[in-house]
Amino acid sequence: MTDHPYRDPYLYDLEYGHLSDDIVFYTDLARRWPGPVVELGCGNGRILLPMARAGVTVHGLDSSAHMLEDLAAKVRGEAADVQSRISWHLGDFSTVSGRNRLVLWPFNALHHLPGPDALSLTLAAIRGALRDDGLLALDCFLPDPSVGTVGPLKRGAVRLDRHPVTGEPLRSWQEEWWDASARVHHVVRVWQRADGREERLHNALRMYDLDELHALARHAGFEVHHEAEDFVGAPVSPASLQWVAQMRPR
Ligand SMILES: C[S@@+](CC[C@H](N)C(=O)[O-])C[C@H]1O[C@@H](n2cnc3c(N)ncnc32)[C@H](O)[C@@H]1O
Repeated sequence: MTDHPYRDPYLYDLEYGHLSDDIVFYTDLARRWPGPVVELGCGNGRILLPMARAGVTVHGLDSSAHMLEDLAAKVRGEAADVQSRISWHLGDFSTVSGRNRLVLWPFNALHHLPGPDALSLTLAAIRGALRDDGLLALDCFLPDPSVGTVGPLKRGAVRLDRHPVTGEPLRSWQEEWWDASARVHHVVRVWQRADGREERLHNALRMYDLDELHALARHAGFEVHHEAEDFVGAPVSPASLQWVAQMRPR
């Protein structure tokens, strides 16, 4: 898996560590839905850690040992009370268990599943790990019509950074293409080191129409309780590129 997108948590932080809207949103939900909270695809704790610092007890799960090792290192640097609110395990989304009040599935993680069958099975597993008075909250992409028109490969502008640990200069750019038959948006972040070595962090993101997402959720025993196109609640429209959904068991 030379191009596994999550093998370098430092580059992950460099790319996404500045985002905060979703942290505010999910932390607020955890306050309003008290009880056991689990985050699917918790990664190295971008959301989970600030949530625990805010007083939420949260269990994370993730299939990337690299990301969880980095999470463990970060947790060791936290105050004892914060540490006591955090637990995690290495596993697939479908290993979610328990009787949770709130299941979080943030930051487009569902697109990592290969297709609707896997998504359906995972939603069923989540339903099984959610109390009847619980909530599933997630955010994901909605199809961007412009992605299909960029040609076989679109290369973005070069950005200059420094590696957060070694300090070495890094050039990076994004390459993307759309596989129409598989409905997969391929997004590769290429990181080039000073000596010319490259790391290609490749995300293959399976896209779904909103109608399909509604149908899959309903089939798994959920009803959409609230939906928006962003974390402050702007209504979903045909032009929306993001779906921020809250679902309840029906
Ligand atoms: C976009 S990252 C989100 C990480 C973190 N929630 C955040 O917001 O920064 C998606 C995470 O899902 C994990 N992941 C991908 N497929 C998975 C699967 N099938 N089961 C469990 N985790 C998975 C990846 O390892 C990665 O850490």
